[in-house]
Amino acid sequence: DVNVLIMAGGVGSRFWPKSRNHFPKQFIDILGIGKSLLQLTYNRFLNICDNDQIYVLTNEIYADLVAEQLPPILKKNILLEPSRNNTAPCIAYAAYKIGADNPFANIVVAPSDHFILKEDVFLDKIRLALDFSAKNDALLTLGISPTRPDTGYGYIQYQDSDIKNQCVSGEIKKVNAFMEKPTLSKAEEYLQRGDYLWNAGIFIWSAASLKKAFEEYASEIARLFQSGLSFYNTIDESKFIAENYSSSPNISIDYAILEKANNVYTIPADIGWSDLGTWVSLHAIGEKDADNNMVNLEKIHLKDTSNCIIHLPNDKAAVIRGLDNYIIVDDGEVLLIYPKSDEQEIKQVGKDMVAKH
Ligand code: GDD
Ligand code: MG
Repeated sequence: DVNVLIMAGGVGSRFWPKSRNHFPKQFIDILGIGKSLLQLTYNRFLNICDNDQIYVLTNEIYADLVAEQLPPILKKNILLEPSRNNTAPCIAYAAYKIGADNPFANIVVAPSDHFILKEDVFLDKIRLALDFSAKNDALLTLGISPTRPDTGYGYIQYQDSDIKNQCVSGEIKKVNAFMEKPTLSKAEEYLQRGDYLWNAGIFIWSAASLKKAFEEYASEIARLFQSGLSFYNTIDESKFIAENYSSSPNISIDYAILEKANNVYTIPADIGWSDLGTWVSLHAIGEKDADNNMVNLEKIHLKDTSNCIIHLPNDKAAVIRGLDNYIIVDDGEVLLIYPKSDEQEIKQVGKDMVAKH
């Protein structure tokens, strides 16, 4: 019994100013292909399970956006959070709720804001992972070969096949250590070593294994959502959530569980993955000109300009000369010009701007 949880409650703050509090990037057609990242994610999972087994986890302020973008989704499968407490509590809520009716449920957790080019390979890996997690007490994640020392990801150090655990198939690796968002020097070291993968943020586990992990490593969250057992899937569920959700610790699943658990496994997955978490990651997959500039309009004229990301409103024209490695984004309200090398700061810059104005 497979259930898919799509997490769509984040703000996408490193994509500021395009991604905002009231319209985060999972709802944006950021690739310009007529579908938002959430819609692409949802369609991808229709190959794995039926519509009534797909849940979207999001903040209550996005309830209408989700329903509007995904007309087939069942209203009861949009799980609404009254506050932003990061990914651990929303996953716990869904796992305890689904597990209440079906303790043997097998669960895929996925972000709503990724791009996956090789969809067939992706589906194969998910099916393999589901088979493994149904039979083992395992927390599985898809691993991506790192291409740069990005400090915005989780890094997974895995055991190579010669020292592999007997019961693990060659494609599934036991994880020795999981490090969420390391420093730049650590990320550089991991990239050099070659036995590290990026965490894709796509997790496969049974409701039972997940509950066990919460009880062991995040007992406060476990207690909170365990206490709702008699309310889930009844008319009192939303009241329970409204009254209790916000008191959960604010922590991501990566710090709460994956860094601590010793039954983490990974499947190296060459799926054409991009987090699209930042402007640079969009640049990596987007179409570029001969000077490696990614430009969204023809009316942008460049000279001696290279390796830039330039994203302007449709009614703008621009002339740019002499820039290398810059992000230039204008969403109509805010103009951002920022060196690509410092893009991890954009999250804070956006917050500061909102606070000031
Ligand atoms: N429902 C809900 N509630 N969803 C949330 C919340 C929340 O409070 N916070 C974040 N999300 C959603 C985001 O919309 C996104 O789809 C997903 O959960 C992951 O959150 P991010 O905030 O984007 O996490 P990250 O990118 O910093 O890090 C995670 O993803 C990386 C890969 O993209 C980690 O899992 C890293 O280890 C991983 O490498
Ligand atoms: Mg992200």
